[in-house]
Amino acid sequence: RPSPAAAPDRLPFSRITQEDLAFFRKILPGRAVTDPDLLESSNVDWLKSVKGSSELLLRPETTEEVSQILKYCNSRNLAVNPQGGNTGLVGGSVPVYDEIILSTALMNNILTFDSISGILTCQAGCVLENLSLYLEDRDYIMPLDLGAKGSCHIGGNVATNAGGLRLLRYGSLRGTVLGLEVVLADGRVLDCLVTLRKDNTGYDLKQLFIGSEGTLGVITSVSILCPRKPKSVNVVFLGCETFEQLLKTFQLSRGMLGEILSAFEFLDSECMRLLNTHLKLRNPISDCPFYVVIETSGSDSTHDGEKLHHFLEEAMTSSLVTDGTVATEDSKIKALWSMRERVTEALTHDGFTYKYDISLPVERIYQLVTDMREHLGDRAKSVVGYGHVGDGNLHLNVTSPAKDPALLAAIEPFVYEWTASCNGSISAEHGLGLKKRNYIYYSKPSQAVALMGNIKAMLDPKGILNPYKTLPDDLK
Ligand code: FAD
Ligand code: MLT
Ligand code: ZN
Repeated sequence: RPSPAAAPDRLPFSRITQEDLAFFRKILPGRAVTDPDLLESSNVDWLKSVKGSSELLLRPETTEEVSQILKYCNSRNLAVNPQGGNTGLVGGSVPVYDEIILSTALMNNILTFDSISGILTCQAGCVLENLSLYLEDRDYIMPLDLGAKGSCHIGGNVATNAGGLRLLRYGSLRGTVLGLEVVLADGRVLDCLVTLRKDNTGYDLKQLFIGSEGTLGVITSVSILCPRKPKSVNVVFLGCETFEQLLKTFQLSRGMLGEILSAFEFLDSECMRLLNTHLKLRNPISDCPFYVVIETSGSDSTHDGEKLHHFLEEAMTSSLVTDGTVATEDSKIKALWSMRERVTEALTHDGFTYKYDISLPVERIYQLVTDMREHLGDRAKSVVGYGHVGDGNLHLNVTSPAKDPALLAAIEPFVYEWTASCNGSISAEHGLGLKKRNYIYYSKPSQAVALMGNIKAMLDPKGILNPYKTLPDDLK
């Protein structure tokens, strides 16, 4: 029996003809790519776990060009795979068969920045790190940050409703994204690119596209509310003996650090082993079963330093943490953050990675790792846990020397049943993409899924936008 994560049969979309190629070459001179060598990297996802066979990569520069492309594809019944930085982790960013890849890589202009309100508008293909650097020069920061910042696009971030390392402090993109411009499947341009903090005129349509993973429209521009750059940032890296103590440390940090707490992340000793082995990163403290990265961001270094000092004193004297190190200067802050941010990369060197991104009541998150280890025994190479404690978001990852269908069958649906039994979500932040679409019912009632199908049918009646993704096969 094929796994529910496997691709369904190709749907009856048209195949690209010479006339189609001539059209695209005319509207995108030099930017309709057919060279197989150039297409190779756009056909494979970051994890190298899904490979499509698209023969055409389109690189528009303007909204008008995206509109022309989609209008044409819709009339010709050609399937389209919107692609940003191709860092997605659920197989949503690459074609399954021969879908045309529509890349936002050349849509990378900053449009406006209001230094009084902190509202930025930019094209969807701006790389997150470039936006961060632009803002930092102006004393602002992006409200989101993630390990893929050097490659991911803001449009891809919005399309996946990416969470990341700053969500605890600045909230989700559903709050910070103020407006979107989106091209619909038939080429109509939906201009909801407002730059207002408050706007209650009717339904908030932009929310439909946040987290829609390229299935409802192509996001072409984004307006986003950016926080001021904190004047004082501290990062501490601590070790805990048990997950219980880690949770108590989290509670203590919320109480004692209050408004300056900006991140509370964790990794387990298995992650540390992979960082040491594969990336040669050295543990900055003594070996412990659990590690936390706590960041504070505020406006007064003396005040923040005092608060942090009292918190650390309390955490040490009450034996919640066994060892730790503090960083205030930029290079050490970066080094400590890389212990958390580079776990994803370390895993890719360990073998084929099965990734799970689970939302749970925070006190349950590590139990799933322990139970999975016991459940899999020696069938897995490594079973590791890390994630965003402050958001109740566990990243459970299982590796094996190579792709292993028997191992996958042992993990799924076990992991989803476990999650559903705690009323958790099977995707906290990465989305469903190709790999998880058929498991949606573990986290959403069938009425909600049916309504999603109605919305898809209304906005994309021919289903040309990112087919085989997000929605389960039984809707079609
Ligand atoms: P892609 O990977 O290109 O696409 C992702 C999805 O969005 C696809 O379904 C695609 O069709 C769609 N899409 C892309 N652009 C558009 C557009 N303009 N319009 C419509 N649809 C579009 N995610 C988190 O939430 N938190 C993390 O902390 C985090 N850390 C990561 C760390 C690493 C090292 C890596 C590799 C990934 C991480 N991710 C994380 C996964 C993640 O989803 C993203 O990296 C990011 O948001 C995807 O952006 P992208 O531009 O690469 O989009
Ligand atoms: C993270 O928090 O590191 C990311 O979501 C990537 C991952 O899950 O590996
Ligand atoms: Zn994450």
